Amino acid sequence: MRVIIGKDYNDMSKKAANMVAAQILLKPNSVLGLATGSTPVMTYNYLIKLFNDETISFKDVVAVNLDEYIGLSKENPNSYRYFMNDIFFNHVDVKPENIYIPDGMAVDLERECQEYENLIRQNDGIDLQVLGIGNNGHIGFNEPDLKFEGVTHCIDLDEETIKANSRFFQKDDEVPKRAITMGVKTIMNARKIILLANGPEKAETIYKAINGKIDPALPASILQLHPDVTFILDKEAACCIEKKESITLCT
Ligand code: PGA
Repeated sequence: MRVIIGKDYNDMSKKAANMVAAQILLKPNSVLGLATGSTPVMTYNYLIKLFNDETISFKDVVAVNLDEYIGLSKENPNSYRYFMNDIFFNHVDVKPENIYIPDGMAVDLERECQEYENLIRQNDGIDLQVLGIGNNGHIGFNEPDLKFEGVTHCIDLDEETIKANSRFFQKDDEVPKRAITMGVKTIMNARKIILLANGPEKAETIYKAINGKIDPALPASILQLHPDVTFILDKEAACCIEKKESITLCT
């Protein structure tokens, strides 16, 4: 595991964008696993800048998003489809037919999950997966559980997650309680993973994910077993990490 500590949110976002850019330059038709949430927003801003500078192009990239709320249409500003279009896809040259996000309005949700998993497989898996992390240690919407949930599936969101997400909604009862998410196995099958976190409120979760025991009660802890994972953090989120042999710390 590598841990890169940026000076601040801006610096860590630039470092994350550079890693994504390097991936695209080395393999223009990369399959990128993408995340929503507030953490990666600045990373997307830097990627748009690199696109505008003509350093990178997304024309051959395939984008697969981690998750989507159940019950929100793509026209709903709170859906992850809308969010991704708004902050990223509308500003780069990724082809609409190469963008995949689970359909939270699917009539047959089980089938939607299966088809999503199949399409990732048909694209030969994810080259680089970008992750955020919830305060409860979730990755995608894989919430704390008694076991690690394998492939793409429907999930009941944790009270803590619903509360955290309510900041984006006008009324509490509008916050979705269910979602479709790639599973832990889907994520672990990615060839390369970067996890981004910033701010003091993530420090304890990051400590547990990196230094704690591998436990489905903190889903991100399984990343300790991934052969090519990099945590990209700001100083505040990284403040509690203890050095250990399996961690390469970089700044
Ligand atoms: P955040 O969400 O980036 O808005 O903190 C992260 C997550 O829940 O995965």
